[in-house]
Amino acid sequence: MNIQSLLELNSLFPESKYVQLATVDKNNQPSVRTVVFREFVQSTSDIIIHTDIRSEKMRHLSHCRNVQICWYFSQSREQFRISGDVEMVDSNNESLRHLRVAQWQKLSKAAKSAYFAGHPGAALPLDDVNQHSVHTQNDFSEVSNKFVLLLVRPHQVDHLDLNTNPHTRIASKLENNFWQEKRLNP
Ligand SMILES: Cc1cc2nc3c(=O)[nH]c(=O)nc-3n(C[C@H](O)[C@H](O)[C@H](O)COP(=O)(O)O)c2cc1C
Repeated sequence: MNIQSLLELNSLFPESKYVQLATVDKNNQPSVRTVVFREFVQSTSDIIIHTDIRSEKMRHLSHCRNVQICWYFSQSREQFRISGDVEMVDSNNESLRHLRVAQWQKLSKAAKSAYFAGHPGAALPLDDVNQHSVHTQNDFSEVSNKFVLLLVRPHQVDHLDLNTNPHTRIASKLENNFWQEKRLNP
């Protein structure tokens, strides 16, 4: 089975909802955080992630669009380390507007409201734990201009399968639109 089909198959497990996304800042300092895997862009292996345009990761991405996703599927006991670059789809992107609007419409009210709330990462007084959730927006029909799609386009995948003994490790690289695979010692 090819790498795209393997990812698609594994992503259907309910516990596959979260992935770890690593970025690097302008001083080459790495940062990793958990994000929700939304879905693949139709007929591609591009991974859709939602984020806030004001978040720190956006500053990293404006400096370096290379990222790595680490995705462990506990049911199938497989790890995929996916290296790729990111396309950021914000309110200025006309060509992918339909995709951004469609993703916005899938969000709950609570999730939408976060994009109208305070600046992510802003310092808050320690004695006011509710201040961060204050927002005045009630109508969420318009897409918040803070709402951004990150489309992670894989070009290299390191796949480790723990089901075999010894374990199986395959490195795949996208070359001229085809995945070239190499078997590695795990
Ligand atoms: C289970 C879980 C799911 C999360 N999903 C997202 C997400 O989809 N998008 C996002 O921007 N942050 C998400 N976060 C928050 C990030 O992990 C992170 O704290 C936040 O985006 C700020 O990261 P940054 O300062 O590196 O930009 C999630 C956190 C957890 C624990």
